[in-house]
Amino acid sequence: MKISDKELIDLLQKAYSAEKAAAFAYQGHAGSVKSAGEQAAIRQIEIDEWNHRKEVLAIMQEYEIPVSRYYEFRFQVVGKVISGSCYVIGWFMPFYFAGSLESGNVCEYFRMKHHFNALGIRRHDSILYEMGMKEKEHEVYFLKGIENSKLLPFFEKLFNWGARKSFNNVNLDEKYPVEESDVYCKK
Ligand SMILES: [Fe+2]
Ligand SMILES: [Fe+2]
Repeated sequence: MKISDKELIDLLQKAYSAEKAAAFAYQGHAGSVKSAGEQAAIRQIEIDEWNHRKEVLAIMQEYEIPVSRYYEFRFQVVGKVISGSCYVIGWFMPFYFAGSLESGNVCEYFRMKHHFNALGIRRHDSILYEMGMKEKEHEVYFLKGIENSKLLPFFEKLFNWGARKSFNNVNLDEKYPVEESDVYCKK
């Protein structure tokens, strides 16, 4: 079955490639932190991103959506550059920008769900919900790591993400179940 929702196709193609960029970035991030606990946590997040990539590909294949060569190239470069930069920009920034990227990714998955639902397709609801929630867990992990840093209020003002500001309206302490998750990420 093919779908003609251009925005949805683009969301899927972009997410597929961006997950690779994230996984590469976390390789550098894990390699650059000193604490063994942080290293293990970031390695696990890298594994989560590879899993997301697999799940997104499975959905794309169902609708014969090709992998975008442009996104694959672009995000390959992005991922490798971020990965390398983790070794030189200190400890705070990799945590901060990982958290802010994860924050934005949460809604990508809920947006895909909105699009599928608008087409009357509900069978991807739970996997998209789970992936969105997993990105939220990643966001929270990185935020916890820097919440006591003196740099955070300054960065929050500059980049609109931090202890008070998020790019999504998901709250892990008061989660809506998948059936009621339409309240998330409505524009
Ligand atoms: Fe992901
Ligand atoms: Fe993530």
